[in-house]
Amino acid sequence: MRKPFIAGNWKLNKNIAEARAFAEAFAPMVDGVEDVEIGIGVQFVALKSLVDAFAGSKVKVGAQDCYWEESGAFTGEIAPAMILDAGAAFVIIGHSERRQYFGETNETVNKKIFAALEAGLEVIMCCGETLEEREADKTNMVVKDHLVNGLAGLAPGQMNKITIAYEPVWAIGTGKTATPEQAQEVHAYLRELLERTFGRETAQTTRIQYGGSVKPANVRELMAKPDIDGALVGGASLEPESFAEIVKFNS
Ligand code: PGA
Repeated sequence: MRKPFIAGNWKLNKNIAEARAFAEAFAPMVDGVEDVEIGIGVQFVALKSLVDAFAGSKVKVGAQDCYWEESGAFTGEIAPAMILDAGAAFVIIGHSERRQYFGETNETVNKKIFAALEAGLEVIMCCGETLEEREADKTNMVVKDHLVNGLAGLAPGQMNKITIAYEPVWAIGTGKTATPEQAQEVHAYLRELLERTFGRETAQTTRIQYGGSVKPANVRELMAKPDIDGALVGGASLEPESFAEIVKFNS
């Protein structure tokens, strides 16, 4: 049985005061939630403040990227151990915005995943196709490329720290959600790939989140699909009320 994992991805939003104010409002709203794991990915500068603000709650805090080296002459970069040191539990790696704007490749995703696991962080690894790729019938090819190469070299035993996020690029921030059927189809394919790569047990226990315009109005039908095990939520995670409603989809 996979426990759903619903994570917010705040992207380049919220300063320290805004992050703290969110936590104060949000923590009591999800206080009684036991059956869903909750996370929020925040910009680096507010990481420690958000961890402190959520102290005593079950909300996990995460970063939105990391570098793969531990230390050294890499101006501007942040090491996974530093993210852990700030009290974070997870890091989002390979988001399509990083692939699109910041030169992220499967190879850098793979290096970052190894470094994050080595440091003791959990990972949300993102994959997903663009509209042109979907229209050219390349969805499976693209997500296979992201998944297989992003996770290359990992042992099945390392997969218990990894969540996959399927995020069709055309559904991110556009208000266009994949239909539950479209999402389920890709999730089932991703699980099949996990099985081929890591074996049946790992495939059955690895959580696959859907991301792309998830909101209170569509989360239930998405979560009802057998291979959708959670959500990675951008816009609708910025307000405590809407994110709490998403997290409490089954109550
Ligand atoms: P969205 O973003 O919910 O605003 O579409 C999702 C994401 O990019 O993780």
